[in-house]
Amino acid sequence: MDRSSITVAAAVTVVKTTLNGTLREVPYIPREAWDAKPPKSVEKFAGPIPYVIIHHSYQPGACLTGSECCEAMLSMQKFHQQDRGWNDIGYSFAVGGDGRIYEGRGFNVVGAHAPRYNDKSVGICMIGDWTVNLPPENMIAAAQSLIEYGVRNNIIASNYTLIGHRQVRPTECPGERLFKEIQSWPHYSPMLDVVDPNSIRT
Ligand SMILES: *[C@@H]1O[C@H](CO)[C@@H](O)[C@H](O)[C@H]1NC(C)=O
Repeated sequence: MDRSSITVAAAVTVVKTTLNGTLREVPYIPREAWDAKPPKSVEKFAGPIPYVIIHHSYQPGACLTGSECCEAMLSMQKFHQQDRGWNDIGYSFAVGGDGRIYEGRGFNVVGAHAPRYNDKSVGICMIGDWTVNLPPENMIAAAQSLIEYGVRNNIIASNYTLIGHRQVRPTECPGERLFKEIQSWPHYSPMLDVVDPNSIRT
């Protein structure tokens, strides 16, 4: 099936935010547009959401076009649903190298991306391996716009805390280079709350 045409047709939604005083419109790709499988189950939690957690996918690697990014979403969802046995793709959202925001579980849905924080965070995956390289500016802008959108609409708490995945679990995620980068983002906290992974459920 040619998914690229579906994507273009459905990518009419935009996330509008005023980031640093400039109106930005970031294309938003809802689940239908990347042909997501239905979640096995959906569990919600109340907002406003206190944490934003940044991830990288590591694999799949960076995607550059809409169709590549849709493929990346499908492969992550398949891996999480089939191999991991989770309800759905683990993340709340992902950002592609095409500069677009891809809907994962969405806001206020319990995720599977950061144990103990899945019911109080937005998990944003920057698709790619950002150990050595920094995600391009369009990806960073898209992630920040999504956060700003959440805050403006009172979905994310105005005093939210932003962290990298490695601050709550022993992992190199979100990649050394990206982890350095997010330390300059608004609301970053150096908090550390890592526990023995054997003592908790994923
Ligand atoms: C954010 O504000 C809420 C409500 O006033 C408060 O309960 C919470 O402790 C604050 N969180 C931080 C990180 O300051």
